[in-house]
Amino acid sequence: MRFNVTSGLVQLRAAGVGVVLDLRGDRLPRVVHWGPDLGDLGPDDLVAVADAGAPAATPNSLDEPQPVGLLPEHADGWFGRPGLTGHRSGRDWSTRFDLSSVRFEGAGTGGGAVEVAAYDKTAGLALRIELELTPSGLLRTRAAVRNESTEPFTLGGVELALPVPPEATEVLDLAGRWGRERAPQRTPFGVGARVRENRRGRTGGDASILFAAGSPGFGFRSGQVWALHLGWSGNHRLYAERLSSGEAVLGAGELLSAGEVVLAAGEEYESPWLYAAYGDGLDEVSARFHQYLRSRPAHPAQPRPVVLNTWEAVYFDHDLDRLKELADAGAEVGAERFVLDDGWFRHRRNDHAGLGDWYVDEQVWPDGLRPLVDHVVALGMDFGLWVEPEMISLDSDLARAHPDWILGTGGRIPPEARHQQVLDLTNPAAYDYILERLDALLTEYPIAFLKWDHNRDLVEAGSGPSGAPAVHRQTLSTYRLMAELRRRHPGLEIESCSSGGARVDLGILQHTDRIWASDCIDALERQQIQRWTAALLPPELIGAHVGAPWSLTTGRWHDLSFRAGTALFGHFGIEWDISRASAQERADLASWVALYKELRELLHTGEVVRADHPDPASWVHGVVSESRDQAVFAVVAMRTALTSPPGRVRLPGLDPDRRYRVAVLGDDDGAVVITGRALGAAGLRVPTQHPERLLLLRITSSEEGMT
Ligand code: DGJ
Repeated sequence: MRFNVTSGLVQLRAAGVGVVLDLRGDRLPRVVHWGPDLGDLGPDDLVAVADAGAPAATPNSLDEPQPVGLLPEHADGWFGRPGLTGHRSGRDWSTRFDLSSVRFEGAGTGGGAVEVAAYDKTAGLALRIELELTPSGLLRTRAAVRNESTEPFTLGGVELALPVPPEATEVLDLAGRWGRERAPQRTPFGVGARVRENRRGRTGGDASILFAAGSPGFGFRSGQVWALHLGWSGNHRLYAERLSSGEAVLGAGELLSAGEVVLAAGEEYESPWLYAAYGDGLDEVSARFHQYLRSRPAHPAQPRPVVLNTWEAVYFDHDLDRLKELADAGAEVGAERFVLDDGWFRHRRNDHAGLGDWYVDEQVWPDGLRPLVDHVVALGMDFGLWVEPEMISLDSDLARAHPDWILGTGGRIPPEARHQQVLDLTNPAAYDYILERLDALLTEYPIAFLKWDHNRDLVEAGSGPSGAPAVHRQTLSTYRLMAELRRRHPGLEIESCSSGGARVDLGILQHTDRIWASDCIDALERQQIQRWTAALLPPELIGAHVGAPWSLTTGRWHDLSFRAGTALFGHFGIEWDISRASAQERADLASWVALYKELRELLHTGEVVRADHPDPASWVHGVVSESRDQAVFAVVAMRTALTSPPGRVRLPGLDPDRRYRVAVLGDDDGAVVITGRALGAAGLRVPTQHPERLLLLRITSSEEGMT
């Protein structure tokens, strides 16, 4: 990095996004602009931008109000949430950090990074803040605080905040629950704070994986949007706050319980990464996340294999012959990965027992998993195994031998959830045991993939004899365990599953290769769950399976084309006892598997597009290839439309200056040729559909350009 902040103002630019940081004086960095790229600004222009954004003195306000810092400080006269809270026996509760050094890297429109160090000599604290604008225009920032005093410092929290302009008048965040994750909700962004807090000890089925503010009525393709995501799998807080002065920020950080982090002399706490994306519409926000994730060296590079998962086919009823039959049926339809779900280990005949006893059950599997694994591999599929390493059943050999390895406090056993407790992975002996068990399984069998589950919220998660709050350390221990297993077993893929989709965040995704979006595989519900999971994640990271015709979680029936056409837009798999399906059903499913294989490169590298169709009965979404030479769209009848026929649908995101051939999949004769501009601005008339059905449109460039 090179030092280059002579004027005290730094401009970062990438992919149409601009950030201006004010580092003048000795104060912490202030973001004075985060939004559209303002072009190449000279020193005077930068000063003008910074001055225009500065708060003005008004009657009865501070005489010299200061712009809010990236780590807001009460010492500056900021009356909103402070960025750093904590104390030393009632002292040092309010900080005023002085900037001591700045390092800056980057130039032009390729993004850049800034790292600052600051000290508060009175409070005895040192601070480091990093901020980076990535080439996709995604901003990320984190802070670390170190105790420089000999007396311990009790940390309350570290929350970074970014300002948003007055145009941001509406907040969109995501609600959710088991089986219905990621449901959008909107609220006005008035004076005061809208706060989303999570104390579940995991990311949560109700987590707002995107927390956005924007101009009135912003949509997927319209309006200005500023959005946050916190890359953390434990307790957290996200907020939008507007002060009576009109200043507004979006902020987030880990939520610490009282006394959870006490910094001894020289100890440091590092916050999770806070990600922030600005865009013209939510699609642009999502594209910045998707491009960033795809640019990671560890992003899955191999084509995403078609998964056959045993859960909804057999549940706990593990029988070698039956599972071999299922594997045969999987190979017949073209599956490439066979995943043995819950039920294979000692005492696990149902969900009341066995978690922690990570030995293959000798009663059910007298010859171990080898006969099944060999069968699967001989069929040309790779093998995956379900585990839930962070959990323990009270009815297990492990709990009987080590009752002190269960998280809890006050000498109490926390209330059970799914008949299970949480294993204390902050206890080195428990951690070593789990590492040894998983390592042994991965060494004994050719396991390509672990479906890593986590099936309960944490209650009173304290550790050791003191029962001190442990979610922070437990979360880090899980990350460490995953990283160590992947170090020992290069190429191992891990799925983040948590009662379905309750652990979806960029923290866990540093150690995993896909997420299981939900236990609900009813295609109608999945349309919504996948649409909003894709707000953060690209399709290749979202596990999406074709279920049986009747959905267990909702009792609805759907035809195969709706189920498979929905799963197509993720990492495709099957979760259905296809050994009992008819020959015709298997043949039809095989055609969908073949279609997925044909389209997966496009689906897993292209840009996700969601049209703002005016009728909520019709949803339109698709993926357009990077070079915009092809696309696939789905027109989904979510319910009956008010009018019939349903009217034209716009297909945005294509090159306006190219001509495309658009065909309904399976009806090549009805193909039309039309320009990208007309598709995006005028749209096409599509056939009327029954509710809970979809049409797939295959779009290919019909020529290189237009004359
Ligand atoms: C919850 C997961 O989401 C399911 O897919 C399945 O693996 C069960 N747990 C197994 O207990």
